[in-house]
Amino acid sequence: MTDRYAVIGNPIGHTKSPLIHGLFAEETGQDMAYTAIEGPLEPHEAFAETVRAFAATGGRGMNVTAPFKLKAFAMADQSSERAELAGAVNALKFEDGSIIAENFDGIGLVRDIEVNLGLPMAGKRVLMLGAGGAARGALLPFLSARPIELVLVNRHVDKAQALAAQLSARGPILACGYGDLEAMGRFDLAVNATSASLTGDLPPVPPSVFSHQGAAYELAYGKRLTPFLRLARNAGVCTFADGVGMLVEQAAEAFDWWRGVRPETRAVIDRLTVPLD
Ligand code: ATR
Repeated sequence: MTDRYAVIGNPIGHTKSPLIHGLFAEETGQDMAYTAIEGPLEPHEAFAETVRAFAATGGRGMNVTAPFKLKAFAMADQSSERAELAGAVNALKFEDGSIIAENFDGIGLVRDIEVNLGLPMAGKRVLMLGAGGAARGALLPFLSARPIELVLVNRHVDKAQALAAQLSARGPILACGYGDLEAMGRFDLAVNATSASLTGDLPPVPPSVFSHQGAAYELAYGKRLTPFLRLARNAGVCTFADGVGMLVEQAAEAFDWWRGVRPETRAVIDRLTVPLD
């Protein structure tokens, strides 16, 4: 019987997940169907009911996107440490009546940076802008990649400080405000994990953080040259990326988790890439 999977979000019309997982299934010869479900926003319990109904009718797993990542975490029976730290999940697996939750966004991002862009993070100075869900999902995988320093910056600096304190035993992480950045020198990699690009805004980051041999990564995808990437380009940064590689790599992690086989990602990334310029 064909195994069923779905992505749930609201709105969901823009999702690339059915296309990505459809290509993975074709490439690896897996007998599975993957659809998109518009999850209910109201009443509060309706999201969990929709997920349970999908599982009860033979669903094997789901991807979860905005605005349900926190609700999906809250309803899970088991979740990984990464998911616990993020307080949010993007993948569910239904097994023996249990809901198991994972957050693959951060490892997808690290894999895109290290493997696809060819920039190992070990020994590098890394700057992360933002302390919301997107940043939180990436912190543990980033520290596991052993940067020499991971600096977390946020407008509300208390949020960044709380995260840095929570993770201080896991690696060299420190928090600061945007006003402190001028004094902090250059970074090998700067990642924009704020939601500023969704509204065409620029986080108040000074160009002095970028280095010529360095890289700038924008988590949003398909938004072309965002104000953050433009600033980095004008500062002479040589490697730029938006989140298309992360999107495909997190999908590959979920596919492997569900099906036990890792798909090739290069052709799918190329197919979904929108030129930045
Ligand atoms: P997400 O799940 O996308 O991370 P979120 O949890 O709402 O969304 O977090 C949004 C993040 O983007 C926060 O770190 C927010 O900073 P504050 O916590 O200080 O509000 C950050 N952010 C949003 N707009 C921004 C802007 N124009 N400049 C800088 N940071 C911004």
